[in-house]
Amino acid sequence: MANIIDGKLISDQIKQELKEKVSQLKNQNIAIQLAVIQVGNDPASSVYVSNKKKACAFVGIDSISYELSSDTTEEELLELIYELNESSSVNGILVQLPLPKSISEERILLAIDPKKDVDGFHPYNVGSMCIGKATYLPCTPAGVIQLLKRSNIDIEGKDCVILGRSNIVGKPMSLLMLQENATVTICHSKTKNLKEVCKKADILIVAIGKPKMITAEYVKEDAVVIDVGIHRDENNKLCGDVDFDAVFASCQAITPVPGGVGPMTIAMLLQNCIDSAWNK
Ligand code: GUN
Repeated sequence: MANIIDGKLISDQIKQELKEKVSQLKNQNIAIQLAVIQVGNDPASSVYVSNKKKACAFVGIDSISYELSSDTTEEELLELIYELNESSSVNGILVQLPLPKSISEERILLAIDPKKDVDGFHPYNVGSMCIGKATYLPCTPAGVIQLLKRSNIDIEGKDCVILGRSNIVGKPMSLLMLQENATVTICHSKTKNLKEVCKKADILIVAIGKPKMITAEYVKEDAVVIDVGIHRDENNKLCGDVDFDAVFASCQAITPVPGGVGPMTIAMLLQNCIDSAWNK
């Protein structure tokens, strides 16, 4: 039976550590402010944004919200970003994705000052990560690395298979695992013999966006399974990309959904906000 990797517990420990750092910064008159922009009212995005703001409040980071209507134009959003780039009180800027189809995500992410890009999505920061320079790391992949390290799971020399190649998770995840000296394979919708490839993984990281797709047939006995997905199943219960009940019996360790990777994403955002204040 697997160990359950408790992302909620680990993220609570990190938040506690960060709260102390924020308080030390405040003693040196360094305040931290995060601007959070949401365009439209996608219910899932509203939940994420609200959780991010609550976490900021918990550690003592000030957050200011911009809740823009879904008919906001790209130019209007760009204007707001330019204003926040110039603001001396704002350290971090976060634009919640996805954006309405009428707005180019690429143009918006490129407009954010890389020094305030606490999501780590700007191409400058992506490039810095790629060559191993200290930078803002994208929060979900950085959270997975922390989960593994703080659970004493060795990464070096391990065969790591990543399912999914998104710019937010799959691609940066592969770079961070490579940096930790794993041997990395990235799979996607065109990968042949997916089950066989996954079954070779010592560490299987799933960010494929399909509810409960990964069953025991994909998982080597004693593998570590990290589930980045989050969905509602047929009974309206939260579930991941991994069929937890089917995989739990045979793997070494597994993250639950909810309470696995999700809370770690937010903890890493707080870390980036604190770094942004230091960098300033
Ligand atoms: N949408 C899904 N994940 C993320 C994230 O990490 N940051 C932002 N800004 N939007 C997201």
